[in-house]
Amino acid sequence: MIYLNGKFMPIEEAFVPVLDRGFIFGDGVYEVIPVYSRQPFRLTAHLKRLQHSLDGIRLNNPFSNDVWKKILEQVIINNEGEDQYLYLHITRGVAKRDHAFPENVLPTIFIMSNPLLQPSQELLKSGASAITAVDNRWIRCDVKAISLLPNVLLRQLAVDVHAVETILFRNGFLTEGAASNIFIVKEEILLAPPKSNLMLPGITYDVVLELAEDNQIPYEIREITETEVSIADEILLTSSTKEIMPITLLGNKPVGDGKPGELFKRLHALYQEYKATRMREQVTNRLTN
Ligand code: PDD
Repeated sequence: MIYLNGKFMPIEEAFVPVLDRGFIFGDGVYEVIPVYSRQPFRLTAHLKRLQHSLDGIRLNNPFSNDVWKKILEQVIINNEGEDQYLYLHITRGVAKRDHAFPENVLPTIFIMSNPLLQPSQELLKSGASAITAVDNRWIRCDVKAISLLPNVLLRQLAVDVHAVETILFRNGFLTEGAASNIFIVKEEILLAPPKSNLMLPGITYDVVLELAEDNQIPYEIREITETEVSIADEILLTSSTKEIMPITLLGNKPVGDGKPGELFKRLHALYQEYKATRMREQVTNRLTN
């Protein structure tokens, strides 16, 4: 069951008029929120980022956080599966085609839930492959815009050669992946590119840095060059749907010894533990309240 403009319905029955500005201009923003044990993960952070994206495109937030929470709860209830991922999509609504913002038009609000599938054990054991490309996107990559054509084209470069992700560089510096954030490990130090308008501020990125901080894993947030990535001991990819994944092949060169590294294994285990404790705690609270 999906949510569209205030109503729940089967996805087959959900339609949007062709003049929706999302369809015509890609004029909208979105969020992807993982749900574990039927609880949204880091909901406040996701809603804060949604607000940032809406501000970035000058669209009013249609709901308060409390209303979002209630609607998302309803979406989770109306869908099966303990682990889901919520996809929220807001466009500037339906209006005659004109680049200028329309007046007195309601936004289109669409939410769906899909099963959240963990990366396979094989992939976690062997690692994934990635390629590199020049980051040719716009310079508001901090806005989670639905106009994803550059990301789609960049990601397809990876798909074409059976790789999992395309790692992007702007002026020789690492930004992120086509649909993920990227970390590297150099001499046992976890390196993360600093948040800026050139990358999406990932929620999983924040979790990984918090885990590093809380567990005395040395880390640095700083610009990372393309050369540093090419000779990294480890490369890690993070996203809400993929969690943490090791990249063990870059182009046709093994990363480090070509196997998932020690820091990946540690952070992956910490992430699973964090998720389990946090989510279990919430479920226990829910049952006892
Ligand atoms: N994408 N950078 C880009 C360009 C992304 O599209 C994503 C996530 C991330 C990671 O952010 P987070 O950890 O908050 O998921 C970074 C989602 C999953 C998607 O578009 O499906």
